[in-house]
Amino acid sequence: MKHPILAWTAIALAAGTQTPAHADTTLRMFVSSQGSPETHRKIADLYEQRNPGIKIEIELGGATSELQAQYLNTALSSRDPSLDVLILDIIRPAQFSAAGWISPLGDAAEAAPVLKDYIKAYADANTVDGKLVALPSHADALLLYYRKDLLDKYGLPVPKTWPELAETAGKILAGEGNPELQGLSFQGKAIEGAVCTFFLPYWSAGHDLTRDGKFVFDKDGAVAAFNVWKGLVDQGIAKKNISEVGTDDTRREFQAGKAVFASLWGYGWSNFQGEDSAVRDKVGVAVLPAVEGGRPVSCLGGWEWAVSAYSRHQEEARKLVTFLSGMEATKIKAIEASYLPPQTALYADPDVQKAMPWVESARAVVESAIPRPVTPRYNEVSEVIRTLFNAVIGGSMTPEDAAAQIDARLRRILR
Ligand code: GLC
Repeated sequence: MKHPILAWTAIALAAGTQTPAHADTTLRMFVSSQGSPETHRKIADLYEQRNPGIKIEIELGGATSELQAQYLNTALSSRDPSLDVLILDIIRPAQFSAAGWISPLGDAAEAAPVLKDYIKAYADANTVDGKLVALPSHADALLLYYRKDLLDKYGLPVPKTWPELAETAGKILAGEGNPELQGLSFQGKAIEGAVCTFFLPYWSAGHDLTRDGKFVFDKDGAVAAFNVWKGLVDQGIAKKNISEVGTDDTRREFQAGKAVFASLWGYGWSNFQGEDSAVRDKVGVAVLPAVEGGRPVSCLGGWEWAVSAYSRHQEEARKLVTFLSGMEATKIKAIEASYLPPQTALYADPDVQKAMPWVESARAVVESAIPRPVTPRYNEVSEVIRTLFNAVIGGSMTPEDAAAQIDARLRRILR
């Protein structure tokens, strides 16, 4: 296998973008504070050891994707040169590239030998107009976490549809009689993750938002999708104030043994298996249920490394990004923080499989996960969907009104 750093350096040289190396360069790396920032530090330490003269400072962004984007929007629109390397949610490279905030890393065709190691969706998300604009940090998809011990206790299989999940959770809640236990925790708060929550049943029923660049929103499909989530709240499977639940709330609740099922991203696993977890060794991971008559789908997540266009250390930043997205670093992240690997080969790696026994089946989930719409106006699309979803789940708007508003507002944004 070609060493990723060597391969990348060759691309950077070919692109003619190198500047002379500096001794004693400090690179500031912006990372997400959700998940395991300490794993990013560990990888940065490794890089420092191997690259004398380079120091890496870590800047922690907000805990959620949209807070991080807000921080970066402010820094980059004022051309702040203090950040060199940025971690970006998969929904952002297109927008950041259109704004001129990230430096192209090279020609995508020339980078093909490097890109072929990655799950295709990530190579695609990071290619804009033939240019490679970012490289993957980790893959992600919404997964169904379930309490293996409770399903075993009641002799129930892992549910394959949302009605089955409601029935299974209902039986367990009735049997356990524990007022602290919820059937399902999911993200109903008006955060980025709620966009994915909304889309799960909508996509599962075969609907799209855009097709061949055309807006093809299905209003009835959206009403049905809202009703899946609202139904889970109305039946008492999800808790009443689920509209206040964000990503890490779901993680905490499930980890404390307060939910039978959780819809959550990959990072949950390493927490659930941690020493202080109430559910250690009691958790299973599966693909999320389908709507009745639909197909199981997930929402594609993931994070990407990019170089700030305002960094004064372009060459050093590129080299760091190459290392951060290389197999050595992504394997450490998979093992220590259950960040799903972006490279297909790591799904068959024995060390990764030991840390995440379900990782092989997760590959299919990630590979078939559906991306959120790719558009430079993604912020507006997200805002519309997550606030209306939150209003429906919180009971302040009907599914019909919310679907009509999504239709009217997205039609203008995506036209
Ligand atoms: C996860 C996903 C990311 C998504 C976010 C939403 O971090 O990887 O793509 O947008 O959750 O909360």
